[in-house]
Amino acid sequence: MLASLRELALAAHQAGTGLGAFNVIHLEHATAFVRAAERAGTPVVLQISENAVKYHGALEPICVAALAVARAATVPVVVHLDHAEDTDLIRRAVELGIGSVMYDGSKLPDAENRETTAAMVALCHAAGVDVEAELGEVGGKNGVHDPSARTSPADAAAFVADTGVDLLAVAVGSSHAMTTRDAHLDEELIRAIRAVVPVPLVLHGSSGVSDAGMRGAIGAGITKINVSTHLNQVFTGAVRAALAAEPALVDSRKWLKPARAAVEDETFRLLNLYR
Ligand code: G3H
Ligand code: ZN
Repeated sequence: MLASLRELALAAHQAGTGLGAFNVIHLEHATAFVRAAERAGTPVVLQISENAVKYHGALEPICVAALAVARAATVPVVVHLDHAEDTDLIRRAVELGIGSVMYDGSKLPDAENRETTAAMVALCHAAGVDVEAELGEVGGKNGVHDPSARTSPADAAAFVADTGVDLLAVAVGSSHAMTTRDAHLDEELIRAIRAVVPVPLVLHGSSGVSDAGMRGAIGAGITKINVSTHLNQVFTGAVRAALAAEPALVDSRKWLKPARAAVEDETFRLLNLYR
C-alpha cells in the first residue's frame, strides 16, 4: 500500500528504528525491495533519482511502475523522487502521484538553497507531497570519496524552520558511491543535530557504512537510510556469477532472476538490521 514518508519517518524516529530507502534503477529493484519488506514485515522507501530518470529518458515509465509495485504491496511503501535538482522534474513527479520528493539544492549558495527549497515545500505540501532537503553537501558523486563535509547543528535548525521541510539530509561523514563499507560517521554530530532539529534525519551514501556503524547512527538519531551502490554491487555480482556459470545464456530472465533474488536477500538483511 502507498504510504506517507513523513508519517513513516516520524513513527520510525519515535520508535528509534531506521527506515530503509533503496534506489530503484530497474523494475527488478522495485520488486526485490518490496518482496524483502514484505518478508521482514517493515515499511520501505523506493527512491528514483534524477540520474535514474536521465538513464530512462523520462520519469513516467519507472515512476508509474514503482507506484504500481507499491500499491500492490502488503506493507507500507513510499515512492520518492531522490536528489532532484530540476524543479520541473519535481512538478512532474507531483503530477504523477509520487508520495515525496528530495529537493537537492545543496550545491547552491545557501540563500538560494533556502529560497528554492521553501518554494518546493509550498508546491509539494499543497499537493500533499512530503519534502526532504539537504544541508551540507554529502560528497562522492564525482566518484571521489569525500567524507569531509559537515552540517552545522545551528544551521540545520534554522534551515528547517525557514523552509518547512519534512526530513533533513545531513553531512556527518558518509560519502556517495563507496564500494567499501569503512566510512566513519560522526555520531556526536548526529546527536547534536538531533537535539536541535525537530524533523527526522536522513543519511545519504549509506553504502559506505558498516553494519555496526549503521546501528550506531540509528542509535544517535538517523532515521531514513539511503542505500544504492551496495545493492548494485550485489545485483551486478550475481549477474556476473550467473553469466560465468552459463556462458551460453541467452534469456535475460535467467541472469536477472538470480540478481533480483540476491538483492532481495540483502535488502531483507538490511531491513532487519535497521529495526
Ligand atoms: O540518495 C541515495 C543515496 O544517498 C545512496 O548513496 O549509493 O552511496 O549508497 P550510495
Ligand atoms: Zn544521496
